[in-house]
Amino acid sequence: MTAGAVSTPAGSAATAAERAPRIFPMPEFTLGDRLTPEQRDFLDEWGFIRFRDFADPSVVRELSDETEEIDRRIVAEGRESIFGVPLVIGKRGDGTRYVQRMVFTSLFGTKLSAFLRDPRFRGILEVAGHDYRIAERERDGLVLNHFRHEAGSAHQQLGWHTDSLRDVFYFEKPRRYLNVGFYLDDSPIAKGGLRVLPKTHEQPIRQMLLRKIHFVDFEPDADEFAIEARAGDLTIHDGRLWHRVAKSELTGDASRRRVMYLPLMNGPVKPKDENSPTPFYFRLRRFARG
Ligand SMILES: [Fe+2]
Repeated sequence: MTAGAVSTPAGSAATAAERAPRIFPMPEFTLGDRLTPEQRDFLDEWGFIRFRDFADPSVVRELSDETEEIDRRIVAEGRESIFGVPLVIGKRGDGTRYVQRMVFTSLFGTKLSAFLRDPRFRGILEVAGHDYRIAERERDGLVLNHFRHEAGSAHQQLGWHTDSLRDVFYFEKPRRYLNVGFYLDDSPIAKGGLRVLPKTHEQPIRQMLLRKIHFVDFEPDADEFAIEARAGDLTIHDGRLWHRVAKSELTGDASRRRVMYLPLMNGPVKPKDENSPTPFYFRLRRFARG
């Protein structure tokens, strides 16, 4: 693919909000034991990559079943946070409650925990940096985002942001951080989903912090692209890249979109426990959520 294939059309009178979303023309990559030089180059150049069928449908089903069990348990116990990190709880059309942002998920299920030991993740850790690890007990652990579009859903979309803002709030210098997402549901463009501004991972820090107002700006951008995925796919995006999660055009069960984000960490091990305080970052997000 050439850069010209994704340039912004010039002279268009339609605003970004009126135009049909553009789907990024992603090559059909699959992940082996490690990323190939071509895959590494692609990630470095664009700031993201998608691997098809990282897990087959039976594995997706098993993991999905386990996350549903965990969800029911957490809701039944009335938990509102885990290790100081607040959960986002929503209500379905039928009135049942469910967790829309679950954290430290793999600590609650043996299949999820075993999944994180898939040797192919070592190939990703290698690209992240020499001292990276999968940290089930650190920061937010394995995050499960569960988006639905209906009244009662607290997690329908997510405004523009870079993941690197978190580093600032954790008093750490923003660095290259790979955000690895595993899809439990198909995520066609009709379900909204991930929108990215390609190549913004290479912007100066000022742009990273100030290009848009983090989490408050939901407007489509003229330069954005949608990244579609299917259940079982794995995506990686650079945390410095500007991205958002668009609202689904579908509603109710048809809008369900669950993505797990892997906890990659480096540096000193900082495990959390039940006595960990709530980071200020989450108070900001709660305030900003639209
Ligand atoms: Fe993000």
